[in-house]
Formats: sequence, C-alpha cells, structure tokens
Amino acid sequence: MKTVISTDRDAAVELLRKGELVGLPTETVYGLAADALNSIAVAKIFEAKERPRFDPLIVHLPSGKALDEIAIVESQVAHKLMEKFWPGPLTIIFLKREIVPDIVTAGLETVAVRMSAHPIFREVVRKLNRPLAAPSANRFGRISPTTAQHVCDELSGRIPLIVDGGATEHGIESTIVQVENGMIEVFRRGPITDEMLRPFGEVREQTSSATISAPGQLPTHYAPRTKLIVVDDLKNFSPPAEKQIGALCLRPVAGVVDPGLPRPATAATKAPADFATMRYLSKRGDLREAAANFFRMLRELDAENLDLIVAERVPEEGIGAAINDRLRRAATN
Ligand code: TXA
Ligand code: MG
Repeated sequence: MKTVISTDRDAAVELLRKGELVGLPTETVYGLAADALNSIAVAKIFEAKERPRFDPLIVHLPSGKALDEIAIVESQVAHKLMEKFWPGPLTIIFLKREIVPDIVTAGLETVAVRMSAHPIFREVVRKLNRPLAAPSANRFGRISPTTAQHVCDELSGRIPLIVDGGATEHGIESTIVQVENGMIEVFRRGPITDEMLRPFGEVREQTSSATISAPGQLPTHYAPRTKLIVVDDLKNFSPPAEKQIGALCLRPVAGVVDPGLPRPATAATKAPADFATMRYLSKRGDLREAAANFFRMLRELDAENLDLIVAERVPEEGIGAAINDRLRRAATN
C-alpha cells in the first residue's frame, strides 16, 4: 500500500467512511484513526501498529452531543471537567454503552473518551459524524509521532493517508482521568496537569497496575532503540571517552560542555569528557515548549547511532511531571 502525505481532509473522511485508517494530527500527538463503531476498521489499527494484544483505545467524539451515544455520564465533576477542558487534551474514562465494540475497549466495561481541539481532526471527525478510535500513530512500544513525517517513518506502506497538520502543539499524549466518588484519578499524566485538575476535586495518582495493563501504563513504553538512562543531574555524569553518548536535558547546564558550541576557555583541559551530541528541550526552560519538543528530540537522538542516551529529569512541576513520566518509561531497564 502506498502511503500519501497530504492536507486533503475530504479524502480522509472518505477513507474513514470506507473503514480505512488515516493518520491525523491532534493537539497532543498524531493519531491513527479508524471508525470506532466499525470493528473491522479498528482491528486494522492493531495490525498496523503491531500491538501484540488488544489494548483499549481512546474514542474521539465528533461533538459533545455524541458522548451520550457511547458512554454513561453520571458524575457532576466529569461534567465540569468537560465544560472546562473540552475540546482539548483531556481523556475521561466512562462506563461504556453497548454500541462501542469490545475491540475498542479490549473487553473493558469502560471507554476512554476525548474531544480533540485540533482544527484538522475536528473537521474530519465532524464531517464523518461518527466517533473515531485513535491511538498514537506509532508502532507498538515506540516513540509517539509529533509530525506527519514521524507517522510516515512508523507506518509507511501500512496506511493509505496521513493528513499533514505540521508539528503538534503539546507534543505529549492527553491526560487520562477517571472520576470516582468525586475523586479525580489520574491514569496518565499529560498537558492537563494535577494543578489544573485540583479545583474540580481531589486528585489521586492511579497506581494499581492490576486494573489495567495497557501500553500507556506499561513500565517500558515510548522507548527509543538506543539504550537510555535517566539522571537527576547531568553534571555528575561523565561520558566515557570511547563511547558515543547523547544528552537530553531541559536547558544548557553549567559545567557540561555542549559539542555544538565553541569550547569555553575555562573548560580547556579539565572538562568532563564531552557528549557526542546534546539536545535542549527548551533553552529558556519553558516546560510546555519542552513537552512539545520531547518526542521529536528523542527520535533525533535515536537516529544518531549513539551508544547511550542520557536524559536529565526536568522539574516535577506542571507538565514537567508528564515529561518525567515519559522519561521513566523510555528508560532501558
Ligand atoms: O493524546 C492522546 O491521547 C493520543 C491522541 C492520538 O488522541 N492518543 C493516545 O492513545 O495516546 P494511545 O492508544 O496511544 O493511548 C491510550 C491509552 C492506553 O494506553 C490506555 O492506557 C488508556 O488510553 N485507556 C484507553 N481506554 C482505557 C480504559 N477504558 N481504561 C483505562 N485506560 C484506558
Ligand atoms: Mg500510544
């Protein structure tokens, strides 16, 4: 199958109507979309991604009204969250209705739902006027795509169309929550941070791994092929001279030599062995910008044939918590 990258939304709607897969941009990462109410179309998602088993997918709504058709919404807190954050990068887990195929929810009684704010995604899902199942458009266990080219790198030859909407805004996947007795349980951290959720109810980190074993919650995920370790402080890591090591950190670190810059005079002889390459998630230390750059830079480093990637944890505040969460899962055990 030939994979086309274009901006043709109508072609996307047409393909989706016929039960085909389309790569679509959302405000978080690119999704691999299929008609959520067509089991065979959804099965193609698992095939294209090579997911080793069926894991629950997020269903994206054409409009707020469509929610009642697929889910049972009882919680007032959930209503308030939707009012505040939809359309946007918040996924909410509800009890599902019969109409949602089991393959979408991996047999669970719940369904994860969101409404994308991306103009291209919205246009396509509205014109189709059916909910779309869409996981991140990467092969199983790999880095989530934030550009159309990334999707092509992952899935070329397996899907007919990728709609190009440029680089995605947030760069990491949506926050996933479930509301239980007015309590907001966070299943996956993301652009809607704990701080943003707190005005709506007590926020709890969902920790029990027994309830669900889906990729987003697997300890290893979003992983580059290159070995990756996470450190608290890059300064304390001395790359062995004979190894090609890449560094990923928020911003320039005092005392760490950037191979891309002229060597500072003070670092003449006693500098720690240099990293082969460095990536700064945000030179001005902006965590939102860091999130938007995160998967792309991970991909770039992965393409450089390094022996090791060393990533420095970012401040655990705001969306930084979600970045650190992805880092933990990208790390080699
Ligand atoms: O930002 C996003 O959410 C992107 C864009 C494309 O919308 N999608 C995404 O989908 O990240 P995916 O399949 O890569 O991750 C979906 C995660 C799964 O890992 C699973 O943990 C969780 O959603 N999930 C789905 N349904 C669930 C359910 N009923 N209960 C608990 N978790 C669920
Ligand atoms: Mg994913």
